[in-house]
Amino acid sequence: MTQTAIDPDELKRYSFSVWSYKQGEMVSLMVHIGDRLDLYKALDGAGPVTAAELADRTGLKERWLLEWLRGQAAARLLDYHDGDRFELTAVGAAVLADEDDSLAFAAGAFSGATPPDTVDKLIEAFKTGIGLSYEELGPNAAHRTERMLGPWVRQALVPQILPALDGVVEKLEQGALVADVGCGGGVALSAMAQAFPNSEFHGYDPSSHAILNCEQKTQDLGLDNMKTFVAGGQDLPKEPTYDFLITFDCVHDMTHPAEVISAIHRALKPDGTWLIKDIRSRPTFKENMRNPMLAMFYGFSVSACMSSALSEPDGAGLGTLGFNPEVAETMVTAAGFTRFHQHDFDDPSNLYYEVRP
Ligand SMILES: C[S@@+](CC[C@H](N)C(=O)[O-])C[C@H]1O[C@@H](n2cnc3c(N)ncnc32)[C@H](O)[C@@H]1O
Repeated sequence: MTQTAIDPDELKRYSFSVWSYKQGEMVSLMVHIGDRLDLYKALDGAGPVTAAELADRTGLKERWLLEWLRGQAAARLLDYHDGDRFELTAVGAAVLADEDDSLAFAAGAFSGATPPDTVDKLIEAFKTGIGLSYEELGPNAAHRTERMLGPWVRQALVPQILPALDGVVEKLEQGALVADVGCGGGVALSAMAQAFPNSEFHGYDPSSHAILNCEQKTQDLGLDNMKTFVAGGQDLPKEPTYDFLITFDCVHDMTHPAEVISAIHRALKPDGTWLIKDIRSRPTFKENMRNPMLAMFYGFSVSACMSSALSEPDGAGLGTLGFNPEVAETMVTAAGFTRFHQHDFDDPSNLYYEVRP
């Protein structure tokens, strides 16, 4: 090994940066625990509270809560007040407590550590080249994906996004046949099925865990206009069937996206609309370096998106950042679509494309 002189200040800065990621891992676990135990909900609107008061509210053990509260204050997620009192501000509640009404809700993305057997399989994937499908990632990953991606879809799809599309709301009000390809847990599908009772909604996803969550939603919400299938986009009907079709955060996860895009072209009626939602990214890594969360997106890619997109030997492997506007337009045009319009709804993580045959 060549010995080069190391600048001690640079060493400290670099070490700090590495240990900051370890701190992030620990804080992530604490956020997950807070979410699982409904601690943020208990703190929401409570003002500055002591651990004893929080223990009274939750029935949990004071000593454990004190350590958790101090850690959350150290992470600057709670405000600290004299007398060992801790407060979740209104802003904190929007990000950590308010799953139903806040677009900024993020706690659902914190699902605890990746299970050791999944890590072992990812290590193996670097040697074999073959990744894990969403089916192989199991029910927890399906649940986390749904809660991580859910807030925007649940709150913005019907009131903000659909009205921006040419003629789609009118069709849905009259009665249309709609498909959600890669529907996951069915957040988009159920939001639309509730809002447009004259229309019928079909969800396709090869993950049985995702479809189980969809079926649960159909039952819980008493929806009789929503049907789901354990099937991929490649299994869509071979003739023009759907008036409106969506693919949300999933084309980049597919092993054969070009095949699915062609299947969508066949399955969409000539006057139909396809709405794509995919990760906000630029064509080059250099341009993407401006994204302050870029390292997190690459983590998602190796552990889920690219892994899924390489879960078959000849997988395309686009990955989390791989379906950028240029790739999207090139691929949909190659499949025969003639209209491609990009929408930016200020969703911090995604761009939207309105595509027509
Ligand atoms: C990141 S999740 C997004 C789920 C959902 N659309 C959402 O926004 O919550 C990606 C989904 O794509 C699905 N998927 C992977 N390959 C697919 C294919 N060939 N056809 C349809 N869905 C696919 C996965 O099973 C997974 O549920």
